[in-house]
Amino acid sequence: MGFLDHEDHEPVRSTNGRGETFQSIVERRLSRRSFLKGAAVASAIVLASPVVGRVIAETDDELPADASGLRFETIEGQSKDTDGTLVPPGYTAIPFIRWGDPLTPDAPEFDPNNQTGAAQAQQFGYNCDFVGFLPLPVGSDNSSEGLMVVNHEYTNPELMFEGYNEEEPNPTQEQVDVELAAHGVSVVQVGLASGSWTYDRTGTANRRYTATSPMTASGPAAGSDWFKTSTDETGLDISGTLNNCAAGKTPWGTVVTAEENFHQYFANNSLLDDEDPIKAIHDRYGIPDESSSRRWEDFYDRFDVTKEPNEPFRFGWAVEIDPYDPDFVPVKRTAIGRYRHEAQTFVVTDNGQVAVYSGDDARFEYVYKFVTAGSYNPEDRTANLGLLDEGVLYVARFDDDGTGEWMPLVYGEGPLTEENGFTSQADVMVKTRQAGDLLGATKMDRPEDIETNPVNKKVYIALTNNTRRAVEDNPGVDAANPRPENANGHIIELTETDDDHAATTFAWEIFMLCGNPEDEDTFFAGFPKEEVSAIANPDNITFDNKGNLWIATDGQPRTLDINDGLFAVPVSGPERGLLRQFFSSVAGSEVCGPEFTPDDTSLFVAVQHPGDGEDSVWPDGEKPPRPSVVAIRADNGGRVGEEGDFQPTQRIFLPMVNR
Ligand code: FEO
Ligand code: CA
Ligand code: CA
Ligand code: CA
Repeated sequence: MGFLDHEDHEPVRSTNGRGETFQSIVERRLSRRSFLKGAAVASAIVLASPVVGRVIAETDDELPADASGLRFETIEGQSKDTDGTLVPPGYTAIPFIRWGDPLTPDAPEFDPNNQTGAAQAQQFGYNCDFVGFLPLPVGSDNSSEGLMVVNHEYTNPELMFEGYNEEEPNPTQEQVDVELAAHGVSVVQVGLASGSWTYDRTGTANRRYTATSPMTASGPAAGSDWFKTSTDETGLDISGTLNNCAAGKTPWGTVVTAEENFHQYFANNSLLDDEDPIKAIHDRYGIPDESSSRRWEDFYDRFDVTKEPNEPFRFGWAVEIDPYDPDFVPVKRTAIGRYRHEAQTFVVTDNGQVAVYSGDDARFEYVYKFVTAGSYNPEDRTANLGLLDEGVLYVARFDDDGTGEWMPLVYGEGPLTEENGFTSQADVMVKTRQAGDLLGATKMDRPEDIETNPVNKKVYIALTNNTRRAVEDNPGVDAANPRPENANGHIIELTETDDDHAATTFAWEIFMLCGNPEDEDTFFAGFPKEEVSAIANPDNITFDNKGNLWIATDGQPRTLDINDGLFAVPVSGPERGLLRQFFSSVAGSEVCGPEFTPDDTSLFVAVQHPGDGEDSVWPDGEKPPRPSVVAIRADNGGRVGEEGDFQPTQRIFLPMVNR
């Protein structure tokens, strides 16, 4: 559905499937450590052997006090033409910054019929995805005033411009300039007063980064020949950032924004000479053979690879921005690799290094981790600004026995040699995907957000879907991607060896197989399925302070005939796997963010592409619909998720019976 690419459009690659059935895979993986309640055993997921004892009895007593704390009343999924948000009783959801809202005192008011690139460059951008709340002042845990950093992933010109021809795109220069300026990132000061969030148009840190803002690069590939163009012989003078999907906040309070589906902006790869090695590299990254869907190449040569063959090498990176310093020039950190970064998230390891988890969101692509060489310095913020330039990038292999390995992508090691086309670490970073291929990394079902749980230190990987799994000559199912034609997605729970985020080995298991719980091939960490909400297409995730996992979705109108939403699920204790819906979004949108304030009393979600595939006039009651950030609070000001009367049934735990 829709104009572009929240569904992956890349041509799939071939490896023969192994022909294993869903049931055999699930038995092999789920039976190792998880437990299925008796009722579930009657389903297709039949356990082959005795496993860990878990929930086997229930009473009507209240749960113990160490439970998740989640007491909101579960909401129902809303039919996909519902053009409004829904939250549980006792909560209020208010959109408080919208596409086109002026970010500075001088910025023009939003006028959709007379929009210009210059106006848009001073206004909130389109299709908000990542939402980061960074407290003011820097280093504090203030939950009522901060800088909000929001990504603007892409544009829907057919929704933005009245009369736009979606079938045969023929944009005007002004429309293209609006689109360039509607991409990128917004930084805006926000505050809570009388229970409501507003943004401050006079905030001195307010600013936009767009597809044309000055940026630079650092690390192994920066300034290399790959980066040089006809207008930039330094390879360091880069114009803008593209397709900023999700992101992560560093321990030192910067934001590293991800460049995801950057390929779609470029055109004409088929016109390059077949002998030109660049052509094959671009092909592996999905650069279009002919015209791009937006036709920016008709106005700007850098989007036509026959004119600027190297320009795509300057995209597909993790880009560091300092929200607190408007003079900081954004830096593309090339040591973290080049691929379709969904996001990258940060955690300090036991010995002070920083681990960065990231996924390449395309079918059959990989999960990555970068570990810095240096250590985080909590005493000196600026001392950390070069940390992301030195370290080791790893790619993940998930073995069928529930273990796995982080394999280093280091020039000269293993197959990453001249024989295979790698002459430097710059080559390895520019061709990260090809390096992962050579190492035999596990081809995943579209890795979206990957985050570390601050309470149990486990890592959660959202795999949104892969309807091409085990279809025709595409890769078949494997233990970590156990369903053929995986329409609904799943979540993997990864445990680093010794809970050390710098470890090079790990254990893993399936936490959730999404879908309608009535379907046999779903799994909710072993929780009785009749008590959970239907969910599909997990995308962005976050945690509250108790370590509960919150999951935003992208695709439910297609898979479940309901709007996308936000769901909460405990990952430990008696409620592990008790997934319940908290928020329902508007017609045609996906849900992004989500982001809590430090005290969990406010929750921000981004409503992206309202009206894409369904009719919407949200939030203003008139067209065009406007992507917006929504603030959700309990009416009594309590912690989001904890207010409400929900009482789960008591479950009694038995000791493990076999392992
Ligand atoms: Fe932009 Fe992978 O979602
Ligand atoms: Ca998505
Ligand atoms: Ca996403
Ligand atoms: Ca996240």
